[in-house]
Amino acid sequence: MLSSNPWPSVIARLLSGGAAVLLLGLVTGRPMLVLLLALSGLLVFNAVQLYRLERWLRRTRRTTPPRAGGLWGVIFDGIARRQDRHRERRHRLARLLERFRESANAMPDGTIVLDGMGEMQWWNRVATRYLALDWPGDRGRRIANLIRHPDFAAYLARADWSDAVKIPAPHDPDRIIEIRIVPYGLDQQLLLARDVTQIHRLETMRRDFVGNITHELRTPLTVLRGMSEQIADMDEPRRDHLARPVALMEQQIERMSRLINDLLLLSRLETEAPPAAEASAVDVAAMVGALVDEARTLSADEHRISASVDEGLAVWGDANELRSAFSNLITNAIKYTEPGGRLDVRWFEAGGEACLAVADTGRGIPAQHIPRLTERFYRVDSGRATRNGGTGLGLAIVKHVLSRHGARLEINSEPGVGSTFSCVFPDPVRRAVDTEQGGWHQS
Ligand SMILES: Nc1ncnc2c1ncn2[C@@H]1O[C@H](COP(=O)(O)OP(=O)(O)OP(=O)(O)O)[C@@H](O)[C@H]1O
Ligand SMILES: [Mg+2]
Repeated sequence: MLSSNPWPSVIARLLSGGAAVLLLGLVTGRPMLVLLLALSGLLVFNAVQLYRLERWLRRTRRTTPPRAGGLWGVIFDGIARRQDRHRERRHRLARLLERFRESANAMPDGTIVLDGMGEMQWWNRVATRYLALDWPGDRGRRIANLIRHPDFAAYLARADWSDAVKIPAPHDPDRIIEIRIVPYGLDQQLLLARDVTQIHRLETMRRDFVGNITHELRTPLTVLRGMSEQIADMDEPRRDHLARPVALMEQQIERMSRLINDLLLLSRLETEAPPAAEASAVDVAAMVGALVDEARTLSADEHRISASVDEGLAVWGDANELRSAFSNLITNAIKYTEPGGRLDVRWFEAGGEACLAVADTGRGIPAQHIPRLTERFYRVDSGRATRNGGTGLGLAIVKHVLSRHGARLEINSEPGVGSTFSCVFPDPVRRAVDTEQGGWHQS
């Protein structure tokens, strides 16, 4: 095998061959004939080498290259070396792919590789089991045609991949599968399927438990309330003697019944189906007007409260749920703003979205608390909040109500300056205000 530059020896051979042909031509006196014969010989020699090369390249299995001296030998060896390198690289890739597939198969979650059209390219064993797929029969089929659960279809249509969807396994309705799609590369998607049956069962148990226990607590509370009313109806001397404990008792009964009502509302929000889309248009402007009137009474004119509403703007949904959410935000603003402070309630449209913003000049909330405010029972300053009578369920209710309406809660706050809580509805409806009879329509 020649590894150094072959050209000097090739040129030397050509020159010596040429000189020999010239000499022979002179000796025989027929230079043209000799030249013709020599060139024909060269042509035949090259044609034979080309033929050998072509025959060898045509073989699919690895074989040693044809032997030859000179330039042809260098070419044959060069091609053979390249082929070896190429083959080696291919083997390495295949081994890598095999290892990837083995590890994907060993994963406890189902994994499906989808192309840009949502067609299934590859999946692991767990996905086969969870989603009742057939390998390789289902290869190339669209995932939307195989998993036909309406919630999954809605998930695909929404195309919001920050979210996941839970559906019963196609061939085993007792098993709950959580599906999440993760986009990657240019146009690829990975579908991950996880068995969440156990978590789902625990979650259902927790929900039922909270629902039942709060329901059960209502009866003893009603009895206690009745008794405190009886004491209030007693004759003068005995009543006066008990006045203070009864007042305290009533305060606690009031607090507990508020807590129970909030817990029941939360458990209803969690278990019941969300209000049907386009159920009824809620006239938020009128609702805000009434809530602001109530707020003025609650604040006993200790705060300056302003309101501005876009009267033609509304949202589809459940009026009672929305009222309790908005009322919570307005009550908070009063509760956490010192007397003399200002409150501003606005209902407006911006960038195609409707927004109910409640701004106050209250004590504000330190940034580290903001992400946790919507957790149940979470209070920034539990000591003070308890005196204020808060239980920390208000914002959890707000969050649930909004998510049932496809809306989101945005919180901006600066300690010592004030807070703004905004409910943002992405799909508002509109009514022409001047035509009294005019219905609502999607804006
Ligand atoms: N406008 C606001 N300004 C300052 N802090 C606020 C404001 N709104 C809420 N917070 C803080 O967030 C916490 C949680 O509010 P949330 O409405 O969930 O509970 P709560 O008002 O304490 O009780 P509940 O609403 O159940 O009676 C409050 O305890 C308070 O610390
Ligand atoms: Mg509250």
